[in-house]
Amino acid sequence: MMCGITGTPGTGKSMVADELSRRGHTVVHLVDTVRLYIIGEDEVRDTQVIDVDRWAREFVPVDGFVEGHFAHLLSCDRVVVLRCRPDELKKRLMKRKYPKKKVRENMEAEALDVCLIETVEMHDPSRILELDTTGHDPPYCADRIELFVKNKIPAAFGTIDWSAFVEAEL
Ligand SMILES: Nc1ncnc2c1ncn2[C@@H]1O[C@H](COP(=O)(O)OP(=O)(O)O)[C@@H](O)[C@H]1O
Ligand SMILES: [Mg+2]
Repeated sequence: MMCGITGTPGTGKSMVADELSRRGHTVVHLVDTVRLYIIGEDEVRDTQVIDVDRWAREFVPVDGFVEGHFAHLLSCDRVVVLRCRPDELKKRLMKRKYPKKKVRENMEAEALDVCLIETVEMHDPSRILELDTTGHDPPYCADRIELFVKNKIPAAFGTIDWSAFVEAEL
């Protein structure tokens, strides 16, 4: 059983993945798997360009969790989309010393449900859990994820509406 954990940067993927790892689960961090797939530099956005299609095609499935902001591009048995209310996301990313422009970009992506939409386009609804991390600590989030992969809580998404933040003063 492979479960992807995806979401906008700052939604808490790495922290919840560390919690799952402490609980004995196998966890793969997407960033540790992309080195061979770097095809350039995006100088405007100051990030590496990854050949995600080839990466996804060649990814060797694991029995456990794959954590990273395009984990939903893999053929997962389950996908958890972490969410964070944009004003809270802003605080988290500022603490991480992200440049203002990147904070804004990520708040906008979160307000527009970008990761969720991409996930819904690729996966059966019965496999998707949208999980709001706003005001919920990593152990709580890890509990929900464990219950979901054990089929103890149902798939669910689409109840979050942060469209009010799209045009908000960021
Ligand atoms: N569930 C949470 N509740 C509160 N703050 C969190 C939570 N998860 C992460 N954070 C904070 O947000 C920041 C980004 O978390 P991280 O796990 O690195 O996100 P991601 O891997 O999705 O980019 C961290 O510095 C952490 O302090
Ligand atoms: Mg991370």
